[in-house]
Amino acid sequence: MTAQTPVKLPLDIEAIRAEFPILHRQVNDKPLVYLDSAASAQKPEFVIESVAGVYRAQYANVHRGLHTLANETTEAFEAAREDVRRFLNAPSTNQIVFTRGTTEAINLLAASFGQMLKTGDEIILSEAEHHSNIVPWRLLADRIGLELKWVDVTDEGSIDYAHLAQLVGPKTALITITHMSNVMGTVTDVSRVMEIARAADVPVMIDGSQSAVHLPVDVQALDCDFFVFTGHKLYGPSGIGAFYAKGDWLDRLPPYHGGGEMIADVYKDRVTFADIPHKFEAGTPPIADAIGLGAAIRWLERYDRQAILEHERALLDRAMTGLVDIDGLRIIGTAQDKGAIISFTLEGAHAHDIAQIVDKYGIAIRAGHHCAQPLMQRMGVSSTGRASFAVYNTVEEADAFVEALKKAREFLI
Ligand code: ALA
Repeated sequence: MTAQTPVKLPLDIEAIRAEFPILHRQVNDKPLVYLDSAASAQKPEFVIESVAGVYRAQYANVHRGLHTLANETTEAFEAAREDVRRFLNAPSTNQIVFTRGTTEAINLLAASFGQMLKTGDEIILSEAEHHSNIVPWRLLADRIGLELKWVDVTDEGSIDYAHLAQLVGPKTALITITHMSNVMGTVTDVSRVMEIARAADVPVMIDGSQSAVHLPVDVQALDCDFFVFTGHKLYGPSGIGAFYAKGDWLDRLPPYHGGGEMIADVYKDRVTFADIPHKFEAGTPPIADAIGLGAAIRWLERYDRQAILEHERALLDRAMTGLVDIDGLRIIGTAQDKGAIISFTLEGAHAHDIAQIVDKYGIAIRAGHHCAQPLMQRMGVSSTGRASFAVYNTVEEADAFVEALKKAREFLI
């Protein structure tokens, strides 16, 4: 271990659980089993206190004031940008734009990069995308006459890389693809995507909203042009996320939202813009939430990411093994490289009913289309139940989920 390598805390799950106040509450007179972290993760005291502490002791607007509070808050806000830079291993904080989350980050790219596109250009996305990475492109496509090209997902739920290679052509302007499916947990092999994209000189956006919490992310190693993620799935606040752009992309991209903070000077007949990354941050940002995101990253950095990954894989394996015994249960997404997310259907039962029954046992799962309707259509289902695991879940909770599903099956079928 070098002097620079920070010592990581051991992955003591009970000690980690103790840091999340909400995990101690009861739901329907049962201890809460929270298996909906893919929709939004719970927050440790460290993050809660960080956000509350801004409002209690420091709060003022950023980048504007000359008084002490304004300076302290600006410093904390910019320190959070450095936390994001380090988390992604981006070369510079100038490449990190704070956004309200993944959705705003993708809208930023669509609105800004979209100004550089022309009618007839093509955007490639996959059938595994969630609506955040579909609808901004659909709006843009309809506005300027682009074509959206859809990469097939295989029966196991993987990206069909051969199909991706076939779709890329002279009109391809961008490949925009998920790093980890929010429905199936399938991990995209970004190196294969990059190989195909680079051969055709096509930029790539990676949607890290689901992956960033589960997988170590290194944007320089991934070599993607753009990477986006959100804070609320990363044990951080909602309403905050980040957009990373490689090299000089942020200099080349035109601004998106207009307003204060993103300008250098405003005249009656023209506007000049602030330096990057501020050119993309119009208006007062979610200040305390950005500082809270920095805290979430520092909290996560206490632990070895590989150890977290292995813990979550063990939970996934445990639950998957238990589910095999349930008649009529179908897992949607069985690819080898898969994060700790299980989507399923149960023959003869609606996913909403299942979610309501397991809730009676204190177990929170999501049911529905998971904001990924094209994937539902591809898999021939209208909705699924979905259990998603996080660092604070236990083997006992994985077992409790399986047992509750068995009871739901008895009740419904
Ligand atoms: N995209 C979020 C989910 O997967 C909301 O549930």
